Amino acid sequence: MPILVLYATVEGHSRKIAEHAANQLEELGHSVIVGDVREPGFAIPGRFDGVLLCAPIHMGRYPDAMVRFLRDWKDALEAVPTALISVTLGIHSENAEERAEAEGFPAKLERKTGFRPRRIHHAAGALKFLEYDFFKRMLMRQISASEGGPLDTGKDHEFTDWAALDAFVQEIADDIALAGKG
Ligand SMILES: Cc1cc2nc3c(=O)[nH]c(=O)nc-3n(C[C@H](O)[C@H](O)[C@H](O)COP(=O)(O)O)c2cc1C
Repeated sequence: MPILVLYATVEGHSRKIAEHAANQLEELGHSVIVGDVREPGFAIPGRFDGVLLCAPIHMGRYPDAMVRFLRDWKDALEAVPTALISVTLGIHSENAEERAEAEGFPAKLERKTGFRPRRIHHAAGALKFLEYDFFKRMLMRQISASEGGPLDTGKDHEFTDWAALDAFVQEIADDIALAGKG
């Protein structure tokens, strides 16, 4: 059975991470279905060997569509190996409190939905200055300044550690292989 890679995104970076992870899983010999959690019509958990979820934090919250999906499907998800990639800028911050807050988002998600992923990876996201409107650009520049991040709004800045992501994807593949033997 294939692996379901499901993402939520506002500015596209979590989709990029999800697609990168999906390609990696395919290179490891798995068949993969990638879907946007907002779009109806993706197949249902229970038909998959494993489910990888990828979602960003915006203003301290994961997108509502992901929260709803996890609430609705948590029982089916518990039957297979699952993993969550939590995408934040906080995890990349120079400020230890910001990093600790970022590390705490999956536990908050679990309290909200009852869903506990078997594995969690924290991926640093991106500052998409070129895509933000004026006010968002100013807000994000200010936040970036307070966290010791880049201030050049003339380009996007990406902080994702792709090698660390690949290592995490390998762990997921190992989980799925082990579950298949059980
Ligand atoms: C309006 C806005 C609010 C954000 N709020 C947070 C936040 O509360 N904590 C955090 O760590 N990152 C925050 N971020 C950073 C995003 O998680 C990061 O930009 C991520 O790459 C967005 O992923 P997406 O492109 O899939 O939407 C915020 C970004 C934006 C644009």
